[in-house]
Amino acid sequence: MRKTADTEPILSVRGLEITFKTDQGDRVFLRDASFDIRPGEVLGIVGESGSGKSITALSVMGLLPVSGLVSKGEAWFEGQDLFALSPRQLDKIRGKRLSMIFQDALTSLNPVFTIGNQIVESIRAHQDVSKTKARQMATDLLDRVGMADPETVLGQYAHMLSGGMRQRAMIAMALASEPALIIADEATSSLDVTIQAQIMHLLRELSLERDMSVLLITHDIGLIAQMADQVAVMYAGEIVENTDVFTLFEAPGHPYTRALLETVPSIEDDKDRELRAIPGVVPEDYYTITGCRFASRCSYVKPERCSLPQIMLPLDECRQVRCLRAQNNELEFVHSTQCEASKIALARRKEEALQKLTDRAVI
Ligand SMILES: Nc1ncnc2c1ncn2[C@@H]1O[C@H](COP(=O)(O)OP(=O)(O)OP(=O)(O)O)[C@@H](O)[C@H]1O
Ligand code: SF4
Ligand SMILES: [Mg+2]
Repeated sequence: MRKTADTEPILSVRGLEITFKTDQGDRVFLRDASFDIRPGEVLGIVGESGSGKSITALSVMGLLPVSGLVSKGEAWFEGQDLFALSPRQLDKIRGKRLSMIFQDALTSLNPVFTIGNQIVESIRAHQDVSKTKARQMATDLLDRVGMADPETVLGQYAHMLSGGMRQRAMIAMALASEPALIIADEATSSLDVTIQAQIMHLLRELSLERDMSVLLITHDIGLIAQMADQVAVMYAGEIVENTDVFTLFEAPGHPYTRALLETVPSIEDDKDRELRAIPGVVPEDYYTITGCRFASRCSYVKPERCSLPQIMLPLDECRQVRCLRAQNNELEFVHSTQCEASKIALARRKEEALQKLTDRAVI
């Protein structure tokens, strides 16, 4: 039976704060980030450049640059707080139950071993299978990430592959350990759209087949619409909205989410319509702002309300937002939503996808 939204999260991040040491002193670049990912769920993190998507992912992996540290928070993964583990303990999980695919494949492929060696070793490290069987599995994986000639690629080294092929080899390697959670940080943005679609399809298949969870980080709201079940919207080092994907598009609750969605052209739009950009820019020193960080760009700003610290609170059972005015029902665009209908739509979407997989297996 499929797991439901009530299943225990595989990853539960609470109150995450990230501080960097800079020439001007310590700066809190990310504050009060909380989110859950359940088995088989795709959580999309979306937001403009510099909003804190990558540092959130890197902190969970224990891979922040040396100048950065988790200054507050917890990240519970399969019963352990990742932030409390020693590097040695973290090594037992990283690249195994918890995997990450990066934007730059060269950082994670070993130049002195063939691609085949690396994938086969990764498979055999967690499954009791013969070398021949592991090689067959490696070939299948390379095939599933869209390699035209998997057999040849198995014998090649990273430097012999094109950028796009390296990226796909790295994705295959990250999947070889059958992780419970995979983090994909703009992992396919350098690939052409057909391959990108193929990889996203594969991640979705694996989430259904193996209950693998995916933390999908992207600027691309279209990708969020296709792939995500839950969505966390980030702005200037904070999560400002957390909801399911249907509610996000139907009934955004935060002015930033609404502005972000308005920048996306729809297929029905007049082709001459100008693409809207959100007016203004993210304040460079956003970490010094104690009130709402979106205030300088928000068309609903009311200084007496918005200069107060904003905290994440539920609007209803399927939405949480960081905006006092939305929470107080003061914004006319925030209309009520059918949380139950969203849950049913999500469950149906998964059932249909699963049915497709089953049908294919029967054929
Ligand atoms: N090594 C570092 N030293 C100091 N500040 C950093 C460092 N890495 C990231 N930051 C700061 O943390 C903030 C968040 O960066 P992050 O890379 O997470 O953004 P992002 O949302 O992933 O952006 P993009 O979409 O461009 O990848 C940025 O404002 C950046 O200035
Ligand atoms: S708190 Fe105020 S400025 Fe911030 S998003 Fe809400 S209305 Fe806009
Ligand atoms: Mg990034």
